[in-house]
Amino acid sequence: MTSLTAIYPDLKGATVAVTGGASGIGAAIVAAFHRQGARVVAFDINEVAGQALIARLGAGASFVPLDLTDPEALKLAFAEAGAACGGFDILVNNAAHDDRHSIEDVTPAYWRERLAVNLDHQFFAAQAVIPSMRQKKAGAIVNMSSIAWRVGLEMAPAYVTAKAAIEGLTHALARDLGGDGIRVNCVLPGFVRTERQVEKWLTPEFAATVKSSQCLKMFIEPEDVAAMVVMLASDSARAVTNQTLVVDAGWS
Ligand SMILES: NC(=O)c1ccc[n+]([C@@H]2O[C@H](COP(=O)([O-])OP(=O)(O)OC[C@H]3O[C@@H](n4cnc5c(N)ncnc54)[C@H](O)[C@@H]3O)[C@@H](O)[C@H]2O)c1
Repeated sequence: MTSLTAIYPDLKGATVAVTGGASGIGAAIVAAFHRQGARVVAFDINEVAGQALIARLGAGASFVPLDLTDPEALKLAFAEAGAACGGFDILVNNAAHDDRHSIEDVTPAYWRERLAVNLDHQFFAAQAVIPSMRQKKAGAIVNMSSIAWRVGLEMAPAYVTAKAAIEGLTHALARDLGGDGIRVNCVLPGFVRTERQVEKWLTPEFAATVKSSQCLKMFIEPEDVAAMVVMLASDSARAVTNQTLVVDAGWS
């Protein structure tokens, strides 16, 4: 297990929205910002995990139950949570769902649903936080993509397509928002040892593939990705925007 050791004084008191913040990498990101003294709001469909995380972290962290695939509910939830904290300084677009699917089995409805859960909400969450960031003439948005589309993850064409689009979205937003002092970057994790990944995909064979594909013969933990996200959101990265940062132990 790794530990996040760096402290960025500018993040103390910062207001942070993290989608998919109840479990996995998102929960590590929420905990990492909380450790900085930031005020973190986790938006997630998983109420049990969200409430448990907030209870563990205590003051400074809060949870908003939300199905991010419902754009109207997203708009309302972000408006309420944003108003309660004086507008978000930082948005981490982290939520996703990486179910596998064969090309033959994908219907138009399933394709649309996959893009709704893996792509659409990243744009709409950004749209929701941008007005207050513009007012403050500052802000940082970090979008979670994946090396899946660079290394060619099998049996997940909709997920892989969404993850590629997130890099495009990052470049589009960074260009449009730079004039307002808002930075937009993208993080591409490799294989990260979350609860879900361990339960669903981490067979001994896949573990061997991970180790042989990476330069570093290690497992990446959620905290490794959280450390990169927190650094990107901090003033230490004040000149960094429109970039893609890869946390994959050298796989891609
Ligand atoms: N774990 C990895 O190996 C890995 C690798 C590359 C990229 N990523 C990316 O990192 C991010 C986090 O991945 P993870 O492995 O922690 O995922 P995860 O599945 O463990 O957690 C995702 C979170 O999103 C939430 N969520 C899913 N659908 C939602 C919805 N409709 N509304 C609200 N919340 C919803 C889930 O409840 C969960 O808390 C994702 O963007 C993923 O694509 C992960």
